[in-house]
Amino acid sequence: MNVTIVGTGYVGLVTGACLAELGNHVFCLDLDQDKVAMLQRGVIPIYEPGLQELVDRNVEEGRLTFSSDVEASIAFGDVQFIAVGTPPDEDGDADLRHVFAAARAIGRHMERSKVIVQKSTVPVGTGELVSAVVREELEARDKEIEYAVVSNPEFLKEGCAIDDFMHPDRIILGVGDDLPGRRALLMMRQLYLPFNRNHERTRVMDVRSAELAKYAANAMLATRISFMNELANLADRLGADIELVRQGIGADPRIGYSFLYAGTGYGGSCFPKDVEALCRTAQAQGQRLQVLEAVQAVNQVQKHVLLDKVFAHFGPNLRGRSFAVYGLAFKPDTDDMREAPSRVLVAGLLRAGASVVAHDPVAQEQAARALAQDLADAPHLLERLSYVAKPADALREADALVLVTEWKHYRSPPLAAMKKLMRSPLVFDGRNLWDPHQLATAGVTYVGVGRNNHAQLRAAEKAQPPAQPLAFKKKPRVGNG
Ligand code: UDX
Repeated sequence: MNVTIVGTGYVGLVTGACLAELGNHVFCLDLDQDKVAMLQRGVIPIYEPGLQELVDRNVEEGRLTFSSDVEASIAFGDVQFIAVGTPPDEDGDADLRHVFAAARAIGRHMERSKVIVQKSTVPVGTGELVSAVVREELEARDKEIEYAVVSNPEFLKEGCAIDDFMHPDRIILGVGDDLPGRRALLMMRQLYLPFNRNHERTRVMDVRSAELAKYAANAMLATRISFMNELANLADRLGADIELVRQGIGADPRIGYSFLYAGTGYGGSCFPKDVEALCRTAQAQGQRLQVLEAVQAVNQVQKHVLLDKVFAHFGPNLRGRSFAVYGLAFKPDTDDMREAPSRVLVAGLLRAGASVVAHDPVAQEQAARALAQDLADAPHLLERLSYVAKPADALREADALVLVTEWKHYRSPPLAAMKKLMRSPLVFDGRNLWDPHQLATAGVTYVGVGRNNHAQLRAAEKAQPPAQPLAFKKKPRVGNG
């Protein structure tokens, strides 16, 4: 099938490359000529495992083309994906400018029937507006050409987007019930046939339900995370371990294990933006989504959790102290710094007078840019921030190590280096990546998120070593109980 993808951002590139890999011919259109020139030279502007190889192969084999020629690109595809950015505007609503510009361009240049697929995450009702824009353009040219607008939301996680695309757990297709809608559905089924051979993964619904399903999925996942983060803070107070609680509840198939990891709050381009946009959609309908508003508030607090723990340990004045920070990207396997919790931590440490030596396997450049923005009011603080190429180098003379992003590079705690290089071996583990017992046994003080019972027990044991092994002594029975 011939496919056009409008927008070569993260979603557009992954969708284009994967559809080409499945044997389709794909034109990826972008108005940014520099970006297109870069892509034509084989330079991928984002870090996504496996994407470079996929793009290279499909370009070489002639199935994937990058272009800034609007007319030619729109003429090419029977299916036109709109995969442009929908960043939040000043009020937190999704800014649909690029979506409508793409729809307008399609309406202006299409000469034969098209299936227009909305891939970007857009507020409920946008499908109808996109359809109206296309109709307007066709009427202006006095053309009667059949088209249908399909909502086909993406569920791609950064860092495993290719795997998510190639092994979808569901493919949502929101289509109208009219004749163009039914024809469009046939084409979309054909396009996604390779994923449905053994097991039907397509969920067909109306456009509005498909649009809402996308927001609902992200909102549900964000809710699980904030719920666990709030419980983790309670576990800290109660002396319980949130990791054990997670295992305890995840075993219930109604709950399941995924997205129950407490940490430093969710970041990235999707959850914060989509939860906010859904709250605003509801408000516009005269309804408040109280659960989701709380999810957002909890997440804001959680982004400060590591900083709070550092202050609880060292006091609010960190002058003369040095911190090693592991992991800056908002999550592993990406260089994305959007809404990354590391930004709150690093800026907070610097503002409190500390020096920071940071390591991230891929996001250091992006982090430097993001932090320069965050500290635009106090750029001199950046002089106390440096980056190292090897994680162990960050530990030299550090008062503490703060782990923010659970890259697999950090999976084994560098115990020997910690003890040899740090001023005192102390770890704040923002992702509960390491085993508190292992660290405690090695003489490293461990502070996790929601598992301070271990640190407390250790401190208590140290303060008062038991004179004899703790044994449960049988008390003489009193009364008749
Ligand atoms: C998300 C959705 O998962 C994806 O389906 C959608 O299409 C786009 O948004 P992404 O933003 O790439 O994907 O990252 P994801 O892996 O979902 O993680 C989001 C954030 O939640 C990260 O900051 C991550 O660290 C955090 N998280 C995730 C937790 O804090 N705990 C968890 O248990 C899981």
